[in-house]
Amino acid sequence: MNESDTAVASGSADVEAAAQAAREAIASAESLDALDRVRATHLGKRSAVAAVQRTLGGLSDDDRRRLGATINAARAELARLEAERRTVLTGQRDAVVLAREAVDVTLPARIPPRGALHPVNETTEAIVDVLIGLGYQVLDSPEVETDWHNFTALNSPPDHPAKSLSDTIYVRPLSPDARPTPDGTTGILLRTQTSPGQIRAMQAQPPPLYIVIPGRVYRADTADATHLPMFHQIEGLAVDEVLTFADLKGTVAEFARAVLGHDTELRFVPDHFPFTEPSAQLLARYGGGWMELLGCGMVHPNVLRAGGYDPERVRGFAWGLGVDRMAMMRHGVTDIRQFVDNDVRFLASFA
Ligand code: DAH
Repeated sequence: MNESDTAVASGSADVEAAAQAAREAIASAESLDALDRVRATHLGKRSAVAAVQRTLGGLSDDDRRRLGATINAARAELARLEAERRTVLTGQRDAVVLAREAVDVTLPARIPPRGALHPVNETTEAIVDVLIGLGYQVLDSPEVETDWHNFTALNSPPDHPAKSLSDTIYVRPLSPDARPTPDGTTGILLRTQTSPGQIRAMQAQPPPLYIVIPGRVYRADTADATHLPMFHQIEGLAVDEVLTFADLKGTVAEFARAVLGHDTELRFVPDHFPFTEPSAQLLARYGGGWMELLGCGMVHPNVLRAGGYDPERVRGFAWGLGVDRMAMMRHGVTDIRQFVDNDVRFLASFA
């Protein structure tokens, strides 16, 4: 062996030793961080292979070519091993991250608490829905009303008992000598019924008219199990060329049964209201007795006239029902005051 062979042989042995150490370090790197450190130590500028490489400058061309080839082969092999190990470690890291962030779509949903309609609103919607199906238009009407719309236009004589100050909550009382006028400026009150909405609807549009007016009404009553000073009514009014009492009966029976059950026993009995003639009351069989559901009748000619309609050309029927009472029947509530107590346990029972 001559001198140059010895230099190449010793350089090659150094490269092989360094490559072997690098192979073991790459194979035992357990994380990407560890692999980064292995690369710096065994493949970088300060590595043992790089040190051998720096000796090439002192060799002959031939020796440099031979030892250089060995170094390049070692470098290529180590780069391949490092890349393969990196692929394996990256896959392992991704698997851990995916497992940690996995979403189990089969878990039961966490459903947030949900609101529910108040039973009075629920009952109102159930009734109004039926009437919309029958072609009725839903209207709003003011809760603060004039004396004229609430009483006079509805053919309620000035001395009618319902008009007394003890039942009506006046916002601005009638002066003792004031006479009710069609512009309704003599007295301002909280409407005692939704019926004044009939007058406003007729004044706003020509016949034929099929309208329903849900809303709050007010009376100077002391609250007890069946009375509240504020309660809810649904007013209905149909005006057309040919309408009979049979149409009225069919209409109110239709929504009463839709809300209370189709086998509910119903009964019409004669009644009296100033704004209808003839007038009737609809009763429903309830708990061994008969419960009053609504008042109704054929619209009085004076009321049609007050609305601007000609009673010689059109006829109408109307009704007014107490929603709170109907909601009590529908939901088995025994004290009407529960509707306004705002006890969440009561309200939640309808959710
Ligand atoms: N407004 C009446 C009340 O509050 C109910 C009523 C009865 C309304 C007969 C009507 C009707 O439209 O025709 O007691």
